[in-house]
Amino acid sequence: MIKKCLFPAAGYGTRFLPATKAVPKEMLPILTKPLLQYGVEEALAAGIDIMAIVTGRGKRSIEDHFDNAFELESQLSGTAKESYLKEIKTVIESATFTYVRQRQMLGLGNAILTGEHLIGDEPFAVILADDLCDYDNKSVLSQMKEIYNKYQCSIIAIEEIPMDKTSNYGVISGYLVDKTNDTYRVTNMVEKPEPKNAPSNMAIIGRYILTPDIFNILENIKPDKNGEIQITDALNIQAKEGKVIAYKFDGKRFDC
Ligand code: UTP
Repeated sequence: MIKKCLFPAAGYGTRFLPATKAVPKEMLPILTKPLLQYGVEEALAAGIDIMAIVTGRGKRSIEDHFDNAFELESQLSGTAKESYLKEIKTVIESATFTYVRQRQMLGLGNAILTGEHLIGDEPFAVILADDLCDYDNKSVLSQMKEIYNKYQCSIIAIEEIPMDKTSNYGVISGYLVDKTNDTYRVTNMVEKPEPKNAPSNMAIIGRYILTPDIFNILENIKPDKNGEIQITDALNIQAKEGKVIAYKFDGKRFDC
């Protein structure tokens, strides 16, 4: 059973400056809803109701967003505008939110390791809220949960990208294990390869289901040349043991 979803949300959001100077990237809206709320709703749609959010300095608005706002609520109570709060109130009431702060932004791998105490010794989902996933019937995470139930190992969501974009992604190589649901056994992963070195055009996107042994692996991963701990390096160790399945999901991803 996957009960918890980890949201790494501590990064500086440098590429979005100045918008992200005082507002967390994960709180930037698409229409009226912050990215992170879309992610939480996707987890809820997959039957996951414990949200473990890795935040950092300057990210307090995330906690405020997923909490009651008594003054605002009493101001709007009984007025025609009350309905504007309905959606977020439902989200707040449907989930438990737990938080931990990443003290130094040492990369996605380190952010996931920072969440270890919120997760414990059980498999868990990870959503990177800046990859917004739209779907028709089943949320991407629901689809991945089904794949997890079948293979009982780490599952990563992948999509085919143009070959000239490989240097923006983690790229996998692997072999097809099930044509009906587009699953591959991963044999290798390379972080941000130049097109000429890329093993394929199948890129990892921001949805994972990870087995808890990933924490031990992450503890021993050496930082890359930018001082960041890459989740791809940790997953590669699992992949070498045949314990990572890549899943070409049904839906559309938007890079936010
Ligand atoms: P990104 O690389 O997209 O976000 O990480 P970033 O680091 O904020 O962006 P830039 O490079 O500065 O522009 C993907 C997700 O991982 C989180 C980010 O908050 C984002 O949601 N993250 C990244 C952490 O929580 N901690 C980190 O040290 C790095």
